[in-house]
Amino acid sequence: MNHFEYRGGAFCCEDVKLADIADAVGTPAYVYSTATLERHYKVFKEAFAPRDVLVAFAVKANANVAVLATLARQGAGADTVSQGEIERALRAGVPAERIIFSGVGKTEAELAFAVRTGVHQINVESTAELDMLADVAKQLGATANVAIRVNPDVGAGGHDKISTGKSDAKFGVSPDMAIQLYKRAAADAHLAPRGLAVHIGSQIKDLAPLEAAFRVLRGLVERLRRDGLTVERLDLGGGLGVPYFNEPDPPAPAEYAAMVNRVLEGLDISIACEPGRMIAGNAGVLLSRVIRIQERAARPIIVLDAGMNDLIRPAIYDAYHGIKPLVERKGPGVDYDVVGPICETGDTFARKRSLPPLEAGDLVAFMTAGAYGAVMASTYNARDLVPEVLVAGDKFQIVRRRWTLEEQLALESLPDWLR
Ligand code: LLP
Repeated sequence: MNHFEYRGGAFCCEDVKLADIADAVGTPAYVYSTATLERHYKVFKEAFAPRDVLVAFAVKANANVAVLATLARQGAGADTVSQGEIERALRAGVPAERIIFSGVGKTEAELAFAVRTGVHQINVESTAELDMLADVAKQLGATANVAIRVNPDVGAGGHDKISTGKSDAKFGVSPDMAIQLYKRAAADAHLAPRGLAVHIGSQIKDLAPLEAAFRVLRGLVERLRRDGLTVERLDLGGGLGVPYFNEPDPPAPAEYAAMVNRVLEGLDISIACEPGRMIAGNAGVLLSRVIRIQERAARPIIVLDAGMNDLIRPAIYDAYHGIKPLVERKGPGVDYDVVGPICETGDTFARKRSLPPLEAGDLVAFMTAGAYGAVMASTYNARDLVPEVLVAGDKFQIVRRRWTLEEQLALESLPDWLR
């Protein structure tokens, strides 16, 4: 469910015509819907009621401060993977006690920052990281809240590159190692082991692998408790998929929550979840303008002003994003290839996509671009980072302005010998 629809032939975000935004800010541009973000957060949160879960939005999916602030106002926490993401979350008004710090590559400086900030928990992924964290906390005279990230040897997700739960993935420690690390943390005066964490992949459309992973966690909690250790929390990660096209709907949050409640039944424990795509994916679109149509023997090619540098998911995961003209067109479709202006064949958004006949100058929206869209953009081919716009009802505002070539060049300089 999202708040993008045709009204009187004009594709709208909430009560704003997307063409008006394109006129005001230029294209390409990302546009996010407040109502959709809020709705997704609420649906996810309420799916667990009366159980109170910490819904820690995965900042990596969409790190725009206005998006984070929208969610923070609803009560969301943040799942972060760098000091930068922690700072963004704080800046957006997410309280430190709702921030989770994940990731395999946390540096000593980042761990120190997280401990000083007093985050909800640090999800530790290895022995070496646990030892580093213990040292850091000791130096700071602090106690760090720790969860051990378990690798349950269950992979899942929409693409191999986004599956994280198999034993050969770089994430987490084996169940047996998790027990050892938990005990080691419990014995350290500067570490407070709070629980276990897991995240097995992204764009997951089947509850079975998630259920298998959560059963592994449950078994570990029971083992730890039998050994006299306190386990207060489970962090179930993110991963729930969203519909990108007319595919069977992924499991609804209510089904997901019912499964979680079933697996964890009778286990007195608090839960955190780290949804990213589920909250932000269908809350954003990327607006783009047709530069020209190229004729080809096989089929015409639509050249857009958005490129793989703006939306890289089709290039690296063969991901499908729906494309809708901003002016509704009825009638038979034409098969097109849809490409961007970047000098790589990979800069292809779609092949043989049936779309209404389009012409140079027409505006289109890439759907489901609110997660892993703007955050993965680059300036490849010396292109600008495009603006991001937030809509709320009949209002819209730029929440990240265009990052221009002048600003790129301002960071560069010639070495002495070339002056
Ligand atoms: N928690 C952890 C520890 C994660 O690594 C991730 C995503 C999430 C939560 C959020 O997962 P979600 O609910 O969004 O599935 N760039 C890829 C997706 C990479 C996901 C990485 N980890 C894409 O565009 O499909």
